[in-house]
Amino acid sequence: MSRLPEVWGEDAHLWNPRRFFDLDKEKQTTVGLYANLMSFGSGSKACLGWRFAVIELQSLLVDLIENFEIDIPAEKPDIQRVPAGVMIPMIRNQMRLGSQMPLKLTPLN
Ligand code: HEM
Repeated sequence: MSRLPEVWGEDAHLWNPRRFFDLDKEKQTTVGLYANLMSFGSGSKACLGWRFAVIELQSLLVDLIENFEIDIPAEKPDIQRVPAGVMIPMIRNQMRLGSQMPLKLTPLN
């Protein structure tokens, strides 16, 4: 559902945050709790903590973006998108170490 081209368009597989500003509401069937995505499930057993989770992630992201320059590390790890219930990042040849997303953070002040 979260990646159906019929709902999101031909670029459904691409990371494109702008799509949420340009939503064609005629094409949307509202099933999920948030942003018409299924990340938090749907219906009577859907996630109770979705608002908390969204606000927590937004505040974490704002704090990181305000205080750090974020870059890809010099050794350029080969990050793969791996299905594991949800899609998670893993590094090729280091999958036994689990989910990893190494980034270079440089303090701005
Ligand atoms: C990014 C973070 C989170 C994601 C992606 C997520 C996702 C989900 C999903 C997919 C379900 C199952 C929905 C279904 O069966 O249809 C669920 C259930 C649930 N979630 Fe979350 N969740 C998140 C964070 C949280 C947080 C922070 C809390 C509590 C503070 C929470 C509390 C619950 C509870 C209590 C249920 C069970 C609801 C029920 O069975 O009636 N979740 N969550």
